[in-house]
Amino acid sequence: MNYTSKSEQQTKDIAKDFVKTLKGGEVIELIGDLGAGKTVFVRGIVEAFGSDARVKSPTFTIMNEYPVRGEKVKKIVHIDLYRFNNASQLSALELDEVITDDSVACIEWPDIFGESPFFPTHRIEINHVDEEIREIEIENLS
Ligand SMILES: Nc1ncnc2c1ncn2[C@@H]1O[C@H](COP(=O)(O)OP(=O)(O)OP(=O)(O)O)[C@@H](O)[C@H]1O
Ligand SMILES: [Mg+2]
Repeated sequence: MNYTSKSEQQTKDIAKDFVKTLKGGEVIELIGDLGAGKTVFVRGIVEAFGSDARVKSPTFTIMNEYPVRGEKVKKIVHIDLYRFNNASQLSALELDEVITDDSVACIEWPDIFGESPFFPTHRIEINHVDEEIREIEIENLS
């Protein structure tokens, strides 16, 4: 699916529509340059579940978890590998325990180490066209 977003709010609205297709267990890779809007998209996902948690880039913590009250989805896991400079530490994240049937995992910079260690169900690519214009492509890989 391809979208054009003309504002931060529109990107969140696209994320909200996308959430309607989620059933839990999804692993979503977010691809795009710095400032493309990956974190904004994740914020839209968390807001779509009615959470008023403020989604911030998990730059220093690597991973943030947001509990939500979806019918099937109980938490959003937000991972950002941008400043995660030790690939061998990835196993310390214990992804199997973090990514579960009732979670939706959103991963920024999954391929920063060359090859993604994840098994994504979705790939979302955001291209920075203009100050406020973004092309967003949502691909279902499963
Ligand atoms: N159409 C748009 N969609 C999303 N964000 C937009 C849009 N127009 C402008 N912006 C701005 O672009 C910025 C996107 O920042 P965001 O933190 O989401 O980027 P990111 O892709 O997560 O970058 P990083 O790789 O540094 O984490 C925000 O400041 C947001 O307000
Ligand atoms: Mg980000």
